[in-house]
Amino acid sequence: MPMTMSSSIKLKSKQDTFKLAEFLAPLLDAGDLICLYGNLGSGKTFFAAALAKALGVPDFVTSPSFILLNQYQGSKFPLYHLDLYRLKNEQEFWELGITDFIDKGIILIEWPELATKLLPETIQNLNLHFYFDGKNRTVDIDAKDKFAPYFIK
Ligand SMILES: Nc1ncnc2c1ncn2[C@@H]1O[C@H](COP(=O)(O)OP(=O)(O)O)[C@@H](O)[C@H]1O
Ligand SMILES: [Mg+2]
Repeated sequence: MPMTMSSSIKLKSKQDTFKLAEFLAPLLDAGDLICLYGNLGSGKTFFAAALAKALGVPDFVTSPSFILLNQYQGSKFPLYHLDLYRLKNEQEFWELGITDFIDKGIILIEWPELATKLLPETIQNLNLHFYFDGKNRTVDIDAKDKFAPYFIK
């Protein structure tokens, strides 16, 4: 049975998101997938930008766009940032070419609900759920398999 550890972290400032990204970045390897759940405005893209920075990406784009996939080069691996909010169907997902790059770098997916049904559960090992109620920000982390030991309390 794979182990899962859950952790809830308060994000009181942007600095807290940067700290989380800096903690996670060294744990990541090519082939890792991070799913970013949460409503609009909960902080998914901000976390993606913070993680990109921690991975040595110099040119992360945070402006809203209609692009489903952005690819960056970090200091060690490529980073693939998917925002599936506007994804229409399964076919459009496969057309992004994920099978070509899934083992090449680190994959971050915002609005992963459709993708997680299609991707093997065995690679869905780091799931972040962002919450913002207009005042307080929280991220719930579900860490499985190789990530679990880092979240033992
Ligand atoms: N930890 C944080 N502290 C303060 N503001 C934050 C934090 N995380 C995100 N934000 C801000 O919240 C807004 C929405 O964040 P964003 O990442 O775009 O949300 P999402 O991608 O989930 O829709 C942005 O203006 C962002 O700068
Ligand atoms: Mg976003």
